[in-house]
Amino acid sequence: MGNENSSTIYSEIRKLKEEKNAVILSHYYMPPELQLLEKDGGVADFIGDSLGLSIEATRVNAANIIFCGVRFMAETAKILNREKQVFIPDMEAGCSLASSITAADVLELRRQHPGVPVVAYVNTYAETKAEVDICCTSRNAMSIAKSFDSEELIFVPDVYMGQNLSKKIEAETGKHLILWHGKCEVHEQFTGSAMKMMRLMNPDAEVLVHWEVPAEGVDASFDQNTGVLGSTNDILKYVGESKSQKFIMASECDLGATLKGMYPDREFITPCFKCPYMKKITLTNTLQVLEAIGTGNVPPYEIILPEEVMTRAYPPIKRMLDFV
Ligand code: 13P
Ligand code: SF4
Repeated sequence: MGNENSSTIYSEIRKLKEEKNAVILSHYYMPPELQLLEKDGGVADFIGDSLGLSIEATRVNAANIIFCGVRFMAETAKILNREKQVFIPDMEAGCSLASSITAADVLELRRQHPGVPVVAYVNTYAETKAEVDICCTSRNAMSIAKSFDSEELIFVPDVYMGQNLSKKIEAETGKHLILWHGKCEVHEQFTGSAMKMMRLMNPDAEVLVHWEVPAEGVDASFDQNTGVLGSTNDILKYVGESKSQKFIMASECDLGATLKGMYPDREFITPCFKCPYMKKITLTNTLQVLEAIGTGNVPPYEIILPEEVMTRAYPPIKRMLDFV
């Protein structure tokens, strides 16, 4: 899209947001044009990681929330705001982790491991959340897992994140994590050989590695280089506190745009693996949602969940917000 077209669509979105009493919450994995805040000439009212966006969803005054992220995130915003209308510009904005597990799978895990608490990564659908004890995001997974007294914990659905967390949790607390087999199809591409190659080509760089990267990718990253293994927020914070000029980033490609925007004098190297679900959200379909609000044409965009599912999914999400 050319500059003239983008600026026309930006001003149309801003005008309709005001007319329709709507706010735009945007994830760090959105394309760069949806990461620009309205105060900086863009259209987003808030940009954040999944925990930041969940928290922001509880503070919104506007009647309508447009969620520029993936569907499980928009569902979380809806469950926290039942009286508001929550929209997503494309219902097909899924997630390979969220679709890897169902509510029935959680019930089966509970049957196999009676009495063991279940922690679910927020990357799950509402029906699955309704069956768990607490949700977590990549930012607070560690503190939530440690907060349980039990010797065992079921952690679903991300097997790689679970393995990475397990190493730290088992070493610090002796607690054993029972894992599911879900995988993030984006982060799993940061294999051991990919990370080794990038590290060998950039021996002076620090590494920024998301929890969802497989353990062999993590091991290869930290073989000789320093850096951080953690959440999106940990990655952003680490760069701010580091004196290094160059970083290898093992996370979603457009987080590179966020980093470059925040730290323009630093260099970020990544093979640029994009999340195909996040990229379903565009300026054009964001404008279409706004046009539809108030017209009766909202069904393709509005998050509608059964009342009973929302009632049962709310406590695990609310508990998660106590660990910020
Ligand atoms: P964050 O919790 O870091 O925002 O991550 C969400 C996600 O989908 C990671 O792939
Ligand atoms: Fe899901 Fe991975 Fe995309 Fe995040 S990056 S939304 S975990 S598929």
